[in-house]
Amino acid sequence: MKAAVYEGPRNVTVKDVPDAKIEHPCDILVRITTTNICGSDLHMYEGRTSFQAGRTFGHENLGQVIEVGPAVRKVQVGEYVVLPFNIACGFCKNCERGLTNYCLTMQPEPDMAGAAFGFADMGPYQGGQAEFLRVPYGDFNALRLGEDGVERQNDYVMLADIFPTGYHATEMAEVKPGDQTVVFGAGPVGLMAAYSALLKGAGRVWVVDHQPDRLRVAESIGALPINCAEQDPAEVVKEATLGLGADNGCECVGYQAHDAGGHEDASLALNGLIDTVRFTGSIGVVGVFIPEDPGGAEAQNEMEAHGKVPIDYGLMWFKGQRMGTGQAPVKRYNRGLRDLIAGGRAEPGFVVSHELDLDRAPNAYEHFDARDDGWTKVVLHPDGSH
Ligand SMILES: NC(=O)c1ccc[n+]([C@@H]2O[C@H](COP(=O)([O-])OP(=O)(O)OC[C@H]3O[C@@H](n4cnc5c(N)ncnc54)[C@H](O)[C@@H]3O)[C@@H](O)[C@H]2O)c1
Ligand SMILES: [Zn+2]
Ligand SMILES: [Zn+2]
Repeated sequence: MKAAVYEGPRNVTVKDVPDAKIEHPCDILVRITTTNICGSDLHMYEGRTSFQAGRTFGHENLGQVIEVGPAVRKVQVGEYVVLPFNIACGFCKNCERGLTNYCLTMQPEPDMAGAAFGFADMGPYQGGQAEFLRVPYGDFNALRLGEDGVERQNDYVMLADIFPTGYHATEMAEVKPGDQTVVFGAGPVGLMAAYSALLKGAGRVWVVDHQPDRLRVAESIGALPINCAEQDPAEVVKEATLGLGADNGCECVGYQAHDAGGHEDASLALNGLIDTVRFTGSIGVVGVFIPEDPGGAEAQNEMEAHGKVPIDYGLMWFKGQRMGTGQAPVKRYNRGLRDLIAGGRAEPGFVVSHELDLDRAPNAYEHFDARDDGWTKVVLHPDGSH
């Protein structure tokens, strides 16, 4: 089968790899019809993680079930399913508590937790930027789609990661109706966090970035853009809130945060949030931070290369703020968010800027990585429907 394979920093090729197949009685095999490129892929693409050459990318996957293992009871051949990026067993100590983002069974290292498709440090599982994908514990992990699943793939595929992840950021930030919420990062995840806050009835949502094209998308869903190349977000938000600051905030940037000139500083968005969010406010951090960043010493400093990020902890403590962190537990939210889509209340496919054939993946990685104008979210169709 064809797959998008990581060959080394900034080098992806589409080539033949061994076919995905059923390896365990609980597996299902999915023919991938829609699969996205994510900002998380870019950390790996740039060589800023331990992702090994030769592995297949792709953790935002949707497709049709073509085979099920003998122990599968619920999912049936022919159904369209969307797969959480987390791979979980459903029965370990963490899964039992709903923390499928930290499954203990699917992560092979005993001192680690969490597994994902095509992801650094999250187990050996191949990604779905390929014709077929093996899905462990198919009954537990696959979310089945209704009759509109085939036509509305660009909306439903966002349930694999960024819609639940953006929503999770707002949950950790404790966004409630009427709140004034600030989101750092207008990438796909930040846009989904802003969209989720608005769905929850936030009174006002600001989105901070230095990419004008992405800020325009934020504006199109009813958020207030702040271009941090031109304005200090804390000043703008405090001025609009009698000096108090936002009620809560979401970090949707991650450890490769940078200024408008491209100079990296992992603490930029975190410190921006600590400053912009009011005393006692909560901050949800879904932007990725990692304990070891192979390129960190050159791009930032020796400390950052080992995941030590100098944040304004004194100010955060003084303000009595709380911070939630980590990978999103997609299963906690995906069913409800699916039904918001099915019911016509949510259309997360608004983020899609490009729909391409799998063969175009190398080119798409290049443009999305450069944050080229208008490249907001790339959707690949390995079934050749584009
Ligand atoms: N926690 C999870 O479960 C989870 C899931 C998906 C993605 N992520 C992570 O979320 C982050 C965002 O993902 P994405 O797909 O939107 O990526 P992206 O790289 O496309 O978007 C990040 C955006 O942040 C902006 N940015 C950079 N520095 C900034 C700064 N100092 N202030 C404000 N904005 C700044 C960039 O211009 C860009 O538009 C990544 O770190 C990704 O790995 C986490
Ligand atoms: Zn993703
Ligand atoms: Zn588990």
